[in-house]
Amino acid sequence: MDTAQNYNYRVVKQFAIMTVVWGVVGMLVGVIIAAQLAFPALNFDIAWLSYGRLRPLHTNAVIFAFGGSALFATSYYVVQRTCQVRLFSDALASFTFWGWQLVIVLAAITLPMGFSSGKEYAELEWPIDILIAVVWVAYAVVFFGTLIKRKVSHIYVANWFYGAFILTVALLHIVNSAAMPATLTKSYSAYTGVQDAMIQWWYGHNAVGFFLTAGFLGMMYYFIPKQAERPVYSYRLSIVHFWALIFTYMWAGPHHLHYTALPDWTQSLGMVFSLILLAPSWGGMINGIMTLSGAWHKLRSDPILKFLIVSLSFYGMSTFEGPMMSIKTVNALSHYTDWTVGHVHSGALGWVGLVSMGSIYYLLPRLSGKKEMWSTQLIEVHFWTATIGIVLYIASMWIAGVMQGLMWRAVNDDGTLTYSFVESVKATFPYYVVRLIGGLLYLAGMLIMAYNMFKTVMDSKPADTRIPLIGAHA
Ligand code: HEM
Ligand code: HEM
Repeated sequence: MDTAQNYNYRVVKQFAIMTVVWGVVGMLVGVIIAAQLAFPALNFDIAWLSYGRLRPLHTNAVIFAFGGSALFATSYYVVQRTCQVRLFSDALASFTFWGWQLVIVLAAITLPMGFSSGKEYAELEWPIDILIAVVWVAYAVVFFGTLIKRKVSHIYVANWFYGAFILTVALLHIVNSAAMPATLTKSYSAYTGVQDAMIQWWYGHNAVGFFLTAGFLGMMYYFIPKQAERPVYSYRLSIVHFWALIFTYMWAGPHHLHYTALPDWTQSLGMVFSLILLAPSWGGMINGIMTLSGAWHKLRSDPILKFLIVSLSFYGMSTFEGPMMSIKTVNALSHYTDWTVGHVHSGALGWVGLVSMGSIYYLLPRLSGKKEMWSTQLIEVHFWTATIGIVLYIASMWIAGVMQGLMWRAVNDDGTLTYSFVESVKATFPYYVVRLIGGLLYLAGMLIMAYNMFKTVMDSKPADTRIPLIGAHA
């Protein structure tokens, strides 16, 4: 229903459905590039199917299309429910939906064609960058506009995380994408040399911190207490968590540039802030997991809760591993190897993927006028398929990564290298196959989710969108 007495669930549902659709697409491309790394013949000598073009398509599809849609869907839902008002503007919210889908479609066309600015996670060329900035400003207006017209005086902590994510991503995107256009499809960065690298990894690391973490922590702070039917373990800790996390993340970027032309002291500064980052990260994780105090038994029977809680375990693992990898001597081994790729996917598949899936499973029935998903058993099957897939993926990459690092640094008594590079590639082959199997399982889980979603939303009934009286529970 479209009145001020009702929540706008339409845009939430649109983004929730597209989260699943883009999840399938992005992960399918992930599986294809994983297969190409194991069996290079799968490049088929076709330029637009080649690894170099499909890899950025994968990262853009999973981060911005899958992750982005999940963030839009949940933030629009959470901000309305916790402020007890309808979204600030239906028209602008709808614009963010169609605008974001257009960005994704343009990315899916231009990246395989080979158009790229060459900056990782910011590959899209300048006309698309401008569109992203416009959509993002509209998003900020809808989100903060809703916060301003809220009917409850308190701003629930999940909104702080979503708000920080929205503001910071605007800042990162606009600063890092500054460029001089040469043609419609080619531009040159406004920065040069080491400054360019520094700005790129200030962006890159905070894309992890804010796009792949802060917004998802917003999800955690809303959906875990809801699904567990328990209040947040420590509200005080959640506030400390928020400020400590956003302050610390900003400084850690140089750990991506160890042993480069970047001044040495900035590398050390990045390392120190990365080590400090362990504390707020784990504080947040513990806060989320302990929210289950007194309700642990629910984990046995509730697969949605399994998704949400296990995602936090992976969050804890990757935020322990990250600070370790930022230590310069450890990075000397891990950098350039598949260890980094294992780290990325323990965060991406384990944390970002599972927390999004759990939250979308929570939302879909509520947006479709149903009590629960079409099949709870299929959620359980999805959970186990995905979890086994993640373990295969990250364990194989860890072993491969450490092996590569050790092979590359091994020297004979006379100072010559013990192994050629090709020998390390050959030794990696079995691990690439195991990773491919893990990826296939994870994708299979996503397809199960898509089927379950289709069955749930197919004959949707009108959802209960009534805004409760002030003071009632959000
Ligand atoms: C079926 C699931 C997936 C598979 C099989 C897969 C596979 C891959 C492969 C093969 C690469 C290239 C690694 C390399 O350059 O050596 C990659 C990179 C990457 N993927 Fe995935 N991926 C999957 C899901 C995801 C998801 C859900 C996310 C994020 C939410 C993600 C984020 C990334 C990122 C950020 C990179 C770049 C890593 C780096 O530069 O170190 N992936 N993925
Ligand atoms: C305390 C938190 C974390 C710290 C200190 C940290 C640290 C690091 C370090 C040191 C690297 C390797 C840089 C290199 O050698 O090139 C790295 C790479 C990466 N991490 Fe983390 N990490 C953290 C958490 C996470 C999480 C939770 C995710 C995902 C959700 C993530 C995603 C990535 C990505 C995508 C890269 C690869 C970047 C690239 O080279 O393309 N990190 N991280």
